Amino acid sequence: MTAFDVETLRRQFPALAIQDGGRPVALFDGPGGTQVPQSVIDAIGDYYRTSNANHDGPFLTSRRSDASVHEAHQAMADMLGAASPDEIKFGANMTSLTFHVSRSIGATMEPGDEIVVSILDHEGNVGPWKAIAADRGFVIRTIDIRESDVTLDLTTLDAVLNERTKLVAVGWASNAVGTINPVAEIVRRAHAVGAWTYIDAVHAAPHLPIDVQAIGTDFLACSTYKFFGPHVGVLYGRGEILDALPAYKLRPASDRFETGTGNFEGLAGVTAAVEYLADVGVANGGARPDRSRRERVLDGMGAIRNYELELYRRLADGLATIPGLTLYGITDRARFDERTPTAALTLDGIAPRAVAAALGDEGIAVWDGDFYATGLIERLGLAESGGVVRIGLTHYNTAAEVDRLVDALGRIAAGAGAAGASSRATAAASAH
Ligand SMILES: Cc1ncc(COP(=O)(O)O)c(C=O)c1O
Repeated sequence: MTAFDVETLRRQFPALAIQDGGRPVALFDGPGGTQVPQSVIDAIGDYYRTSNANHDGPFLTSRRSDASVHEAHQAMADMLGAASPDEIKFGANMTSLTFHVSRSIGATMEPGDEIVVSILDHEGNVGPWKAIAADRGFVIRTIDIRESDVTLDLTTLDAVLNERTKLVAVGWASNAVGTINPVAEIVRRAHAVGAWTYIDAVHAAPHLPIDVQAIGTDFLACSTYKFFGPHVGVLYGRGEILDALPAYKLRPASDRFETGTGNFEGLAGVTAAVEYLADVGVANGGARPDRSRRERVLDGMGAIRNYELELYRRLADGLATIPGLTLYGITDRARFDERTPTAALTLDGIAPRAVAAALGDEGIAVWDGDFYATGLIERLGLAESGGVVRIGLTHYNTAAEVDRLVDALGRIAAGAGAAGASSRATAAASAH
């Protein structure tokens, strides 16, 4: 295998050249949203230049637009391993799609039926289920974590599963602490009691290969702005389930779940984002260009995964040298394959917002707060103190950036780099 060629990939991302105070920015905010390669920017521009029209018209631009929209469905089916492009539904974002389809799923359930959510999840896979449960008289059960390593405690899943469980909604990976959940096993246990599964793959998608058929899930949602694409949400639903679900749609509309006029220019960017991942596979010693897009994407994600874990080990080594730093989640190096390269930490005596702001002053972007993993941050007892600082590595980060971050954090922890930090706002940002 050839070494991961990060510098060549970085040159494709115009935003990585942004300077702040005379230095290039170092962006560790990927879990909140990633940058996009030039090919995605071009695809969106090209849509406007050549194909901008509403759908189903008997003229050139509409035919082009429809072909581009179809291609985006196929691209996402390839990326997720779906059996058909018809199993892919696009919407504004993961949250909106989940609220939308929760009504359809809820319509198949009876009052007193149960939905299982997890304390580890982003609110996007909790709030919609709580809302439909409140509307329709369903019962919400919650999977807990083991606090020591912030992993799901599956004995608490087994304790709540029963014949009234109709849906298990769980994340593939935690956007706050990086834990990867054993989703295939969770799906197996849910199916054993006859429940459907709804997997939130928003945080997993930029880091891990995804195969909806291999894990056997009934639904899966993600967002392309987290994996180098535009702000578009994606829902996978197993064909026979989508076909049978009641749909909330307008009378003439042909699609049962994509309501209104789509973000067609964004969908052109979605295809380009999937093509980018396929190209990463080819460029980094993986698949030959003549292999299928799915095979190339899988090779791309494999190369990304190896590189990101190598980078994460470097970050973990660096963080371990900083006094007063607490790292949450899986810290055992032998278990790093159970995590994404997303670190959640606190520094003794310095509010997370102050740490993030001090890093921001040095051109280093990290998020602080709860990132909508609100239940988890409350469960860890960190809600009152501003949550955590989140360092999210992506495949376009470099070892030099990691070293720069560790150096800055070390100075902040020692008080030197945090001039005025303690007097800054201490309120938690509650973004993403
Ligand atoms: C794990 C996870 N789930 C869901 C969401 C919500 O995604 P969207 O912004 O597409 O609604 C996010 C966004 O940060 C997330 O990280």
